[in-house]
Amino acid sequence: MRAKALLFLAVSFSFSLGADKIILKNPPKSLDKFYPPKSEKYEFLSNMHEMSTAFTGIRVNVNDGNWEKALYWAKRLRDTYVKTRDMVPEWKNYFKVDLAEKLVKAVQARDVDKTIEVSQKLGKTCSKCHQENELAVKLTYRFPSFEKISLEDPIEFMELDTGKYMEKLTNSMKIMKVYLLQGEAQKAQEEGLNFVERARQLRTMCSKCHTSKVSEEAIFGKTYEDALANIENLLSAENPDGKKVIENLMKVTVSCTKCHNVHLVPAVVRESFGR
Ligand code: HEC
Ligand code: HEC
Ligand code: HEC
Repeated sequence: MRAKALLFLAVSFSFSLGADKIILKNPPKSLDKFYPPKSEKYEFLSNMHEMSTAFTGIRVNVNDGNWEKALYWAKRLRDTYVKTRDMVPEWKNYFKVDLAEKLVKAVQARDVDKTIEVSQKLGKTCSKCHQENELAVKLTYRFPSFEKISLEDPIEFMELDTGKYMEKLTNSMKIMKVYLLQGEAQKAQEEGLNFVERARQLRTMCSKCHTSKVSEEAIFGKTYEDALANIENLLSAENPDGKKVIENLMKVTVSCTKCHNVHLVPAVVRESFGR
């Protein structure tokens, strides 16, 4: 009996590995209620943790031969499963409540084989929804919208959303680079200095979401400030040294890339969904 019980391993309800394509579907609007800014409690997510813990509770206790405790967790799993189904009506077909009931019955009957069999079937209902929705939900809800963040352009004195600001910033950077690379460093001055101003202004957006300076410092350290000051000085010279400007520019763009690594993908997914 015990040997067989030990075969009752973790049920997998995670992403599927080895997929050759991943589709991101716009999550149903009714999920909004359970995420910021509408709710700080993450109710949907917290049910997920609850169900996952309950699964472990069943497994651990069946392996221990403690059926009473296993039953406690099976009931908790069923109750949370039902509650979760009712939270997002658009997703109700993913849930097979009869399986959650059958699991309670199998545990009640102290039937190891049946408990394993039904657990696995129930686990498949979890993973089906995860494959189709989990990633998109994480990308959509874990970060606030960058589109609602605006920045004042220090050159044209207009409030711009993040996307528009990035465009102006990049445009001045690229114009500067073109002139530098074709050996016309003087012509690079105007847009180059605009770029420096715009790159400095970037810092002001962090505090619109981050309450501590730690995240800001992780991306804009002294190297960033120094490199911008160097570009400014170099470009202000009568005959700017284009090569040195480019060298310093590379130190600046490391910070752009770092921030994009954290923030760009979720922001773009969110924007594509119009969220
Ligand atoms: C908050 C951290 C952050 C920093 C720092 C930052 N960006 Fe961005 N950037 C973003 C986000 C978010 C988007 C997506 C905006 C959108 O699409 O609405 C973006 C989009 C862009 C885009 C649009 C094209 C694309 O890749 O999809 C360019 C180009 C860009 N940034 C250039 C820069 C440059 C150059 C710098 C540095 C001088 C920089 N960014 C610094 C966050 C940042
Ligand atoms: C109808 C869809 C759906 C069903 C059914 C579902 N889940 Fe989820 N689950 C999600 C979504 C969406 C997320 C991502 C939520 C997030 O990251 O904010 C998630 C995330 C999770 C996570 C990861 C939480 C984290 O912190 O990243 C666990 C664990 C989980 N679910 C367990 C379960 C279990 C166990 C079941 C079945 C008993 C289940 N889920 C059924 C949609 C579903
Ligand atoms: C629209 C809101 C928003 C803006 C604007 C924003 N961030 Fe973030 N950032 C987040 C969220 C949300 C996380 C995820 C971490 C979390 O949940 O606390 C995060 C994570 C990070 C992280 C990794 C983890 C951490 O907390 O340090 C870094 C680094 C970071 N941001 C840097 C920046 C910088 C630099 C800026 C300004 C250029 C910036 N962010 C602007 C919302 C934002």
